[in-house]
Amino acid sequence: MTRPFLGFGLGLRKEHYLEILEHRSEVDWFEIISENYMVDGGKQLHYLERIRADYPMVMHGVSLSIGSSDPLDRSYLEALRALADRVEPAWISDHLCWTGVGGHNYHDLLPLPYTREAIDHVAERVRRVQDFLGRQILLENLSSYVTFRDSAMSEWEFLSAVCEAADCLILLDVNNIFVSAVNHGFDPLEYIRGVPSQRVWQIHLAGHTSNESGRILIDTHDQPVRDEVWSLYEAAARHLGPVSTMIERDDNIPPLDELLGELDAARRIAGPHWAAPLS
Ligand SMILES: [Fe+2]
Repeated sequence: MTRPFLGFGLGLRKEHYLEILEHRSEVDWFEIISENYMVDGGKQLHYLERIRADYPMVMHGVSLSIGSSDPLDRSYLEALRALADRVEPAWISDHLCWTGVGGHNYHDLLPLPYTREAIDHVAERVRRVQDFLGRQILLENLSSYVTFRDSAMSEWEFLSAVCEAADCLILLDVNNIFVSAVNHGFDPLEYIRGVPSQRVWQIHLAGHTSNESGRILIDTHDQPVRDEVWSLYEAAARHLGPVSTMIERDDNIPPLDELLGELDAARRIAGPHWAAPLS
């Protein structure tokens, strides 16, 4: 299937509900955090349905725990499928990670060892999730702060192998690539060139901070996108071609106008690389 292009989007945050409804803004689509809307009723769903009437949407989850060795959570998958029936999203994504084991949820997105065994384990679970949902899913690359001694390949080789084996798609978080590249000392461009381009259906852009020494970057999503990440985005835009792109802001939420300004910056950076060639 050819990659659809939705344009330039934002993460839907409750702070902006009313403004979005009152003024049609320059946002092409919204991404929702799936778990925020897995409820039977109330204000959140009310606003979701009103905004959905005007904009395309995608669903982004944080609780699939696709890498865990615990069984897949059937009730979570049923709630996810029910929400997808309601929202009719262009696609559904989650992270290439695990969030708990032995029934304990750590409420964090934890990295996997990059091994053949882990590829087989995750790919088999992705296939079961895709069968259950009746659609391909996108997996997002994490930002990480530790690595496993057992890892036998790079992160991008691992991500690519999982997606090829499961026939799933990729949500490429360019900020996460930059953060992990600094923390682990790899070349972020090699990462972007190393993933199968046609499987990349969405890009996340976000802000980060650093620890006191400045040597470790922390993926906080509470700042504007940094210049180094914009540069990497330009390289990704040139290499990948048109990919639906969004700003992901989760904390220290600014006025909608500020995020629209960042979205304009994304349009200005990617646009020239995606313009149709002159005949
Ligand atoms: Fe992200």
